[in-house]
Amino acid sequence: MNQEKVIVIDFGGQYNQLVARRVRECNVYCEIYSYKTPLEQIKEMKPKGIILTGGPNSCYEEGAPSCTRELFEMGIPVLGLCYGAQLMQHVLGGKVEKAPVREYGKTEVFVDKSSALFDGVSEKTICWMSHFDYISCAAPGFRIVAHTSDCPVAAAECAEKNLYAIQFHPEVLHTQEGTKMLYNFVRGVCGCAGTWKMDAFVENTIKEIREKVGGGKVLLALSGGVDSSVAAGLLSRAIGKQLTCVFVDHGLLRKNEGDEVESVFGPNGQFDLNFIRVNAQERYYSKLAGVTEPEKKRKIIGEEFIRVFEEEAKKIGAVDFLAQGTIYPDVVESGLGGESAVIKSHHNVGGLPDYVDFKEIIEPLRDLFKDEVRKAGLELGIPENLVFRQPFPGPGLGIRIIGEVTAEKVRIVQDADAIYREEIAKAGLDRSIGQYFAALTNMRSVGVMGDERTYDYAVALRAVNTVDFMTAEAAEIPFSVLQTVMSRIINEVRGVNRVFYDLTSKPPGTIEFE
Ligand code: XMP
Repeated sequence: MNQEKVIVIDFGGQYNQLVARRVRECNVYCEIYSYKTPLEQIKEMKPKGIILTGGPNSCYEEGAPSCTRELFEMGIPVLGLCYGAQLMQHVLGGKVEKAPVREYGKTEVFVDKSSALFDGVSEKTICWMSHFDYISCAAPGFRIVAHTSDCPVAAAECAEKNLYAIQFHPEVLHTQEGTKMLYNFVRGVCGCAGTWKMDAFVENTIKEIREKVGGGKVLLALSGGVDSSVAAGLLSRAIGKQLTCVFVDHGLLRKNEGDEVESVFGPNGQFDLNFIRVNAQERYYSKLAGVTEPEKKRKIIGEEFIRVFEEEAKKIGAVDFLAQGTIYPDVVESGLGGESAVIKSHHNVGGLPDYVDFKEIIEPLRDLFKDEVRKAGLELGIPENLVFRQPFPGPGLGIRIIGEVTAEKVRIVQDADAIYREEIAKAGLDRSIGQYFAALTNMRSVGVMGDERTYDYAVALRAVNTVDFMTAEAAEIPFSVLQTVMSRIINEVRGVNRVFYDLTSKPPGTIEFE
């Protein structure tokens, strides 16, 4: 892609994807690379700027992730954040030591507004600190441009060489003016024009797909999730009927979800493509009958998906391209991009279907973060309810029904979940909670309804806030909303007489139940 680019060099910190996302919010394209990436390769990319991220190490210890002096001598502006700031100072002759007081959390920082980094930032501003080490002496040629009551060098700059070091984390939302600081760096110091916009992305990608595919045939497995839907939208706009989407309804989708997907992508929808819906519900329920072990259930669902997809692919015959809705965090997390070794392999349903006869893979969303995928979806005219759909696991309700899956249990959890989602939306909470859903426990208990004894299932409600889905906290939902959901579920969903709210964070819990 021929456009201005900022490179984020990853030293293993936990906010590294956030750094890249914030830069992109400034309409500047950026990519994450490991600190091990050879300098030559970085030079070849001709970045307009480089950002060094935080990381868990101490830069003065032997074997700590490092960089050479040359990195700062290429004439390319560099911004170091936390570990990156300390490393910059250490390599250029400053001093970094263990701090007498560890700074952690929201901290008041006093900034020197004459620094280009703090243009338009308040003199006293709240920033997010998280460090054991501190810069006790800035490197020669550097001027201190921010401090806190515990930290003499909260930021330092060598403006002539465009080198900037910030001890805190501007990428984290707790740093109230952090986005402004990053904006000042990428748009001001680096001089990026800000050409990374989703309308341009959609237009360019459509052109690229046309060039790549030519007259060829493309096959895409459409799950109804955000990523594969946006990929389908893009491909259909680019190549129309040369695209075939196979949508496997495994009977473990949320209520009405199958029909919603069909109404958008099917023959009466707004997209031009070949749409095949496979109604495989019965097939799945019979495979899952009597199976209670979570991993076994996941395996069966994944394998069956491949079988169904394979059968459809065989009917279509050889295709030139197999399209996938891979997005940038998948690329980074699978270790191809940055340094953080966060692997979600179990989340990829079935992996690559190598039995399908195709020549090449095409991944039109490979460079996008989730929020960018959503923006691209809206550009393409995909309805908001689909674009803002919450994450939904490949194995679907199969892992939200504890124990054996049956059609009856699927009906219960679908109905309870639909009520929950409706009430959360009514309360205006649907965009602020990370992920929320109803699950069906395997517990039945005694209750009373009217004058009758009941012996029915308990539904569990889950709602979590999370930045990266690797850790999560239970969301605080107003009690009155929970009460409304509880009474509606018990009154409207046959087979349920008790409702629980799950308070468990992750870890030790996971977000899903199985
Ligand atoms: P856990 O349960 O691992 O979930 O805390 C973290 C996030 O991943 C989603 N998830 C999955 N997504 N296939 C998927 O596509 C899966 O097998 C799967 N398992 C969990 C989960 O919904 C949450 O967003």
